[in-house]
Amino acid sequence: GGSKRMAIGIFDSGLGGLTVLDAICKKLPALPLVYMGDNSRAPYGVRDAEDVYSLTTRAVERLWQEGCDLVILACNTASAAALRRMQEAGLPEHKRVLGVFVPLIEALTERQWGDNSPPRQVAVKNVALFATPATVASRAFQRELAFRAIGVDVEAQSCGGVVDAIEDGDLILAEALVRSHVQALMRKMPAPDAAILGCTHYPLMDTIFQNALGENVRVYSQAELVAESLQDYLHRHPDKLGQGSETKFLTTGEPGLVSDRATQFLKRKIIFEAA
Ligand code: DGL
Repeated sequence: GGSKRMAIGIFDSGLGGLTVLDAICKKLPALPLVYMGDNSRAPYGVRDAEDVYSLTTRAVERLWQEGCDLVILACNTASAAALRRMQEAGLPEHKRVLGVFVPLIEALTERQWGDNSPPRQVAVKNVALFATPATVASRAFQRELAFRAIGVDVEAQSCGGVVDAIEDGDLILAEALVRSHVQALMRKMPAPDAAILGCTHYPLMDTIFQNALGENVRVYSQAELVAESLQDYLHRHPDKLGQGSETKFLTTGEPGLVSDRATQFLKRKIIFEAA
């Protein structure tokens, strides 16, 4: 009984998924969104795959309870370690979970949504991938890329410490770490033609990445691309867009502190409540 709310759920280990939420809000301002940040357990990027899987499953179940039928894992670490396994284990009826890799890789490889043709040559040859230690270790990006493109050399840089610094609100430290990770990458690959920000926290530092990489490197970040893919998906699956009207922000962390950081990052008032 009762009318079921059908807001779209957005999950991240912490604040990073807000970059995705913000892009979705700009493109689809009337769409109700329920954000879930597992801030008390961030960063996920230093945890093993088993741990990331069980934490992600728990958070997604919390979003089902909010009446969401579609949840976006706005977290590469969770997408790499948990998405495929959750889909294989079977989701409840009418529930869907989408990750953030595929839209990015489709953009990089110049593909339309759902183009399953064999891998082919693409314009980019040398790609720098910046991601958390867990995402780098999973090699999920390279695997998804290999389904779609040939002849692309990927050099991955595991960016230890960046997510912790952002979660702690220490942007001076975050900037210094980003610069040193970019330098480390460029020692291995001196002239990348594209860079992937493979962690949803990193767009908060995108100008630092771009400056450190130089203007000849095209920097791909997920927020915009995921928002476009979602718009496209909802157009084709309007049933996933119910009459839900309530946007809210849930956290396992300290709501006051998380609200302050979120407000600072998005430059508009965000109020979190305890999950
Ligand atoms: N923002 C997340 C990602 O996209 C994860 C960060 C973390 O908790 O380590 O990978």
